[in-house]
Order: sequence, then C-alpha cells, then structure tokens
Amino acid sequence: MKLHVIVPLYALFTLTQQAPSRDSCVCELTNSNKAFPHEKLSGVEDKASTCSGNIGPQKTMELESVLLGLDRRLPQLQEDVSMLEREDDGQLYAALSLQVIENEIIEIQQIIDKLNSTTLRHQRLTADTTKQLETMRAEMQELEKYDTMQVVKRQQDNHRLKRDLDECKNEEGHLISKPTQPPHGDCPYGQFVNISGVRMYTAGEYPGSYKYGAWGQDPKPEKGKESWYWRVMLTSSNKYSNYVRLYSSLSALIVGVSVPGNIQIHSSNPTTNTIQGPNVVMYGEALYYNCYNKDDVCRFNLTTKTITTLQLPKGTRYNSKGNFCRLDECYPYTDLDLATDESGVWVIYTTTEAFGNLVLSKVEEGEPLTLNKTWNTSVYKQAVTNTFMVCGVLYATRYVDKSWEEIFYSFDTTTEVERFNIGIFINKMAPTILSLNYSPVDQMLHAYCDSTLASYKLLFE
Ligand SMILES: *[C@@H]1O[C@H](CO)[C@@H](O)[C@H](O)[C@H]1NC(C)=O
Ligand SMILES: *[C@@H]1O[C@H](CO)[C@@H](O)[C@H](O)[C@H]1NC(C)=O
Ligand SMILES: *[C@@H]1O[C@H](CO)[C@@H](O)[C@H](O)[C@H]1NC(C)=O
Ligand SMILES: *[C@@H]1O[C@H](CO)[C@@H](O)[C@H](O)[C@H]1NC(C)=O
Ligand SMILES: *[C@@H]1O[C@H](CO)[C@@H](O)[C@H](O)[C@H]1NC(C)=O
Repeated sequence: MKLHVIVPLYALFTLTQQAPSRDSCVCELTNSNKAFPHEKLSGVEDKASTCSGNIGPQKTMELESVLLGLDRRLPQLQEDVSMLEREDDGQLYAALSLQVIENEIIEIQQIIDKLNSTTLRHQRLTADTTKQLETMRAEMQELEKYDTMQVVKRQQDNHRLKRDLDECKNEEGHLISKPTQPPHGDCPYGQFVNISGVRMYTAGEYPGSYKYGAWGQDPKPEKGKESWYWRVMLTSSNKYSNYVRLYSSLSALIVGVSVPGNIQIHSSNPTTNTIQGPNVVMYGEALYYNCYNKDDVCRFNLTTKTITTLQLPKGTRYNSKGNFCRLDECYPYTDLDLATDESGVWVIYTTTEAFGNLVLSKVEEGEPLTLNKTWNTSVYKQAVTNTFMVCGVLYATRYVDKSWEEIFYSFDTTTEVERFNIGIFINKMAPTILSLNYSPVDQMLHAYCDSTLASYKLLFE
C-alpha cells in the first residue's frame, strides 16, 4: 500500500525538477476541423463586386429609355404619315412633310441600331454574369461547410426575416401613401388645371413686324421696377437680336411707348454672345438666352452690361438642329428655350445622347453661372411647339390648328412623373406660338405669336 503512493509522488518530483531546465513548453492542439480558406472568400468577394459593377441599374435604365424613345416615336410617325396621306392631292406630296417623315424614319433607324447594340451588349453581359454567378454560388456553398458554429446560417435566416418584414411594411406603406392626385410640383396655389381665354392681346409697338420674339415680366426685378415689361424681337433674319426693349408698364407696352428704350448687348448683330433664337427670359435684371453660334446659355447683366456664359452638356443641339416643330414646319433657331418659374431659371433643349428628346436643366443664377440638376424626358422635341415651367413642372405644347394649341405633356421634376394627357387648350390669336413664358409673379402665361403679344391666366385648383 505504501509503495503505491510513493510512486506517483516520485513522478511529480522528477517533473518539477526537470521543468526549469527546459527553454519552452510546447502544447499540441489537434483540431478536427479544416482551416478556413480566407483567400477563397476574398476571391468570391472580388468577383461579386465586379459583377455588380457590370450590371448596375443604369444598364436597365439605358434599355428602358431607348424603348421609351421608340414607343413615342412610332405613333408620331404613324400620325404624320396619315396626315401626309390626307394632304396628298393626287400629284405631289408636300416636300416639306416628306422631309419631316424622312427625318423621323432616320431617327427611328438610329434608335433601332442603338437598341440592337444595347441588346447585344446586354446579352453578352447576361451570359457572362450568369456563368460567374454560378461559380460564385458553388464556391459559397463550399465555404458554408466551414460554418461549424452556424453563424452565417443564422445571419441568413435573420436577413430573410428582416426582408420579409420590410416588404410587408412597404406594402402597407404603398396602400396608405399612394397618391390619388396627379403630380403638380410644389405649387402654393394648388394644381395647374386650366387656362383662361386671352386676357390681353396687342399688336404692340411694331404691328406686323418681327415675327420672332419673346416678352414678359422679370419675376425678380429691382425695387421700383415691379410693373416693368420687357420685349425681345429677332431683328436680324428672324434669327438674331442684340438688345432688349423695356417698358415701364403693361399699357406702355400696349401703346408702344418705351421709356428706358433699348438696352444694347453689342452694337453688331449678330456677333459673339448676342441673342440667337426667340426663347429668352429676363430674371433678376439679367437676360438669359442662347448665345449666337454656340451651345451656351448667355446671361446679360443689364446693370453692368456684362455677359456670363454657361456651357451646356456635350451633344447639345444648337444652330437650328434641335428645334421645336409642328408637322409641316420647324421653328428655326429654337434649340434652347429659357424659362422662369417660382424657383428661378431653367433651360430646355435636346442632345444627341437623348435622341432628340427634351432635356431639362435647372440653372443656378449665381456667379459663375452653373447648371444644377438635369432631367431626361421621353417626349420628342420635334413633336413639341414650345415649353414653359410652373412650380418645377415642365409643360409642353403642340399645334392643333391655327386657333388652338394644346398643352399636352408635363414632367414633374419633384417626382419625375411624366404625363402625356394634360389636355389643356390655349385659344390662339395668331397661328404660330414662338415663345411661351410663365410669370410666377401673377401666374400669367405670356405668348409671342407671329409678332403679336397675348396673355393668359393660369387656373389652379
Ligand atoms: C444587329 O447587329 C448585328 C451585329 O452588328 C447585325 O449583324 C444585325 O444585322 C443587326 N440587326 C438589326 C436588326 O439591325
Ligand atoms: C378651361 O377653360 C376654358 C376657358 O375658360 C373653358 O372653356 C373650358 O371649359 C375649361 N375646361 C375645363 C376642363 O374646365
Ligand atoms: C449684375 O452685376 C451686379 C454688379 O456686379 C451684381 O450685383 C448683380 O448680382 C449682377 N446680376 C446678376 C443677375 O448676375
Ligand atoms: C440622360 O440620358 C443620357 C443618354 O442616355 C445619359 O448619358 C445621361 O446620364 C442621362 N441623364 C440623366 C440625368 O439621367
Ligand atoms: C441645386 O439645387 C438644390 C435645390 O435648390 C440646392 O440645394 C443645391 O445647393 C444646388 N446645387 C448647386 C451646385 O448649386
């Protein structure tokens, strides 16, 4: 019995005796699991980020906008062709109408080509991506085997639950907040719903002269000039001008007494940075217009007589290549349409990239002059005769007949919702509207039609 106890004691003794003499102590840990392949995981992560870089939402947007362009263009073509057929006098088709239709067909062909190349690119991308996704999926399944603690699996379950919950919440949200009203921007007076008959009509100071031009009121005038009006006439070849003419009241404009007279931009007409095209506006004692022979917005400061320019995006059509039109006629040099509303100055134009659809940009009136946000629309500029802005909503008109123009389209910059069914009719006093100009001061729409001036009151609900 005694011996039995002594043996382990002896063993302990020898162990403690030996320990200090050793340099280190080695423990061997045997793990039945395999080491986690970090490299493999980061490889998959890299692939995933490349993949999502390749197929962002802009890829689908691209296709969608091309399709929308086509969608709008085809009915227009159909309509124009049937109008052409009605016009056919049995001998000759109107050469101009044919020209318009030919242009439309060329545009449509360009869209189809674009669609073709986009689709081919997308197909290739889809095939590549599918293959990559399959590989990644297999790799991830492989990696899941390492999830012995079930952490990833739990996370996935949580994620799934959270997603279901969010979906549920969203559905509920949709039910509650679905707008019942069509969009109308941020108008303090409600929604623009109709327009009055003509409230003011005059042949003005130069009856029958200067078919092209614009007129209106500066929404942000100097103190004491609140009742002033301005008028710009294209005095050279119906294309160019080099001055703005001021009137101290509406009656002065009607009877044609201009007290401050002309404020000249330059003594030559046209020359660098003088006015090209009719769709100009005045805002904050400055005139905004398309600069002569450039795809720029010019701002002429009436106080200092200095000009600031603002370059529009690449591909902006100018020099009468992106005009407002009706079927048998385009309105020359209407490439850039400047507009004012409650929020300041806007510019409406078109670009090659936008396939001739209207593009809208907010102008920041500061120094230097800059562009703020830009929106693409899906309305074809050649199907539009003019545009104006009210409370951040773009409105476009089309020619109906010599007495009526229809406000048919709107684009709300707040919600980005487009409507093609506005259906508000303007009773014209002359057939051709060459500029439309909204005055946020009194909610009047000022029209310059074939050298005459007319005003309408916008009606809100
Ligand atoms: C689409 O593009 C391919 C390759 O460029 C061409 O072979 C094909 O004819 C095109 N299809 C159409 C409808 O234009
Ligand atoms: C719009 O106003 C015009 C002119 O005041 C009127 O004739 C027309 O009936 C109005 N349209 C609607 C839909 O209210
Ligand atoms: C015009 O110039 C004056 C003097 O530099 C400046 O105070 C004013 O803000 C300018 N107006 C515009 C619209 O740029
Ligand atoms: C408008 O469309 C063009 C051409 O597709 C595109 O390059 C541009 O980014 C778009 N702009 C906006 C603001 O969506
Ligand atoms: C663009 O407009 C928004 C809204 O008015 C404004 O907050 C922002 O400062 C503007 N951006 C620039 C670059 O002027």
